[in-house]
Amino acid sequence: MLTIDVKNLTKVTSANGLSETEMASKNKLIHAYLQKIEARGVGFYKTIDAPWTEEILALAKKSDRKYYDVVVLGIGGSSLGMLCLQQSLKHLFENEKPRSSTPRVHVLDNIDPVLMTEIQDVISLNKTLFITISKSGTTPETISQYFYFRSLTDKAELPANLHHLFITDAHKGVLKDIADRDGIKTFPIPDDVGGRFSVQTPVGLVPAALIGIDIVELLKGMRAMRDRFLSDDASINVPFQLASLQYQLEQKGKLINVLMPYSQKLIRLADWYRQLLAESIGKKLNDKGETVNVGITPINALGVTDQHSQTQLYNEGPNDKLFIFVEVEKLGAEVKIPHLLPDNEALGYLQNITFNKLINTEKKATEAAYTQNDRPSITLQIDEVNAYSLGELFMLFEGATAFLGEFYGINAFDQPGVELSKILTREMLLVK
Ligand code: PA5
Repeated sequence: MLTIDVKNLTKVTSANGLSETEMASKNKLIHAYLQKIEARGVGFYKTIDAPWTEEILALAKKSDRKYYDVVVLGIGGSSLGMLCLQQSLKHLFENEKPRSSTPRVHVLDNIDPVLMTEIQDVISLNKTLFITISKSGTTPETISQYFYFRSLTDKAELPANLHHLFITDAHKGVLKDIADRDGIKTFPIPDDVGGRFSVQTPVGLVPAALIGIDIVELLKGMRAMRDRFLSDDASINVPFQLASLQYQLEQKGKLINVLMPYSQKLIRLADWYRQLLAESIGKKLNDKGETVNVGITPINALGVTDQHSQTQLYNEGPNDKLFIFVEVEKLGAEVKIPHLLPDNEALGYLQNITFNKLINTEKKATEAAYTQNDRPSITLQIDEVNAYSLGELFMLFEGATAFLGEFYGINAFDQPGVELSKILTREMLLVK
């Protein structure tokens, strides 16, 4: 079960950390905040129980060995969850392995033209399923990619209904119309679930199931954390605890949150969370329509890799960050470091240890250095990276983000600030 370790917050000075009393100061209000979230009519925590799991599992079974490759076309909330699922739960070099029983997945979440051309060097169209994911069905990046790959499959005279699948709004939109016209299988994204909160819908579940990820366990982990998110008891409600710390420390000038998992498998979790926090909490107007310009800037980092890239800044630069480490007890493999220079005194500390011991010790040392330098940090602890714990992590961050929105009195579920550049792109393209 996921736990949160906050002791370092009490070890730094009060200007940069939080006392036990401060940490508990919002606890009495949990129920009121939960009611506020409920009043927004959002479904991210309800949709976990939606009845599509069986249908998705049946599709995965039916597609078994039919496709060598699954290509996901989508951007933002429509791609980042899947990227994280793939990185966390598949072999790190899955796509380099000789063909396995499940297809490889490639997520094309950009419109750099080399992506469209170079992907064709590693797939065979007649053995590929293209999954176009767009809630609105009008996102220009995704729709242009669909146009491109649909024209390729049409040119190759491959039936669209066997090589394309859509995940989109259940009732409306361009993709829905094409699906109805061409008999393309479609899975819905519920009306009340926004892109960045949708990994627990077919957006994440369909591609995950197709590549052999255990979505039943994933949903189990999500449900467990959803139940904690709905608890009035602060000691159980980790999403509430996390949001409280983030909010109170932001009020003390920690305007940046660095998410730093010490696990290669979780590198993409930090990418996924970056969008969730940035797009949900970075807002100009509050619920009353007043200009507040709030937000917490998310940064992703990877332990230990980024100790050699960012840690200098974190220890000695501006004290404006909260560090959120993710620590994994069992790292998938236990690997001893052979000591090839037993007489070398300077390297003596590497004698008789494993990479596991080294990575965990480096995490502890980094954390201790931040504390000595009066920098606040907390640690999320999981037993191992598996479908269940990833489900817990997704729901932890989604729930915490929902609480954060209420603390700031803003709508965490819209993204009006993204619209302007979309409008300007359209206008610029229409000027011939
Ligand atoms: O979180 C969000 O709502 C956005 O990041 C969207 O997921 C992203 O803009 C893609 O939108 P759509 O799914 O409509 O293509």
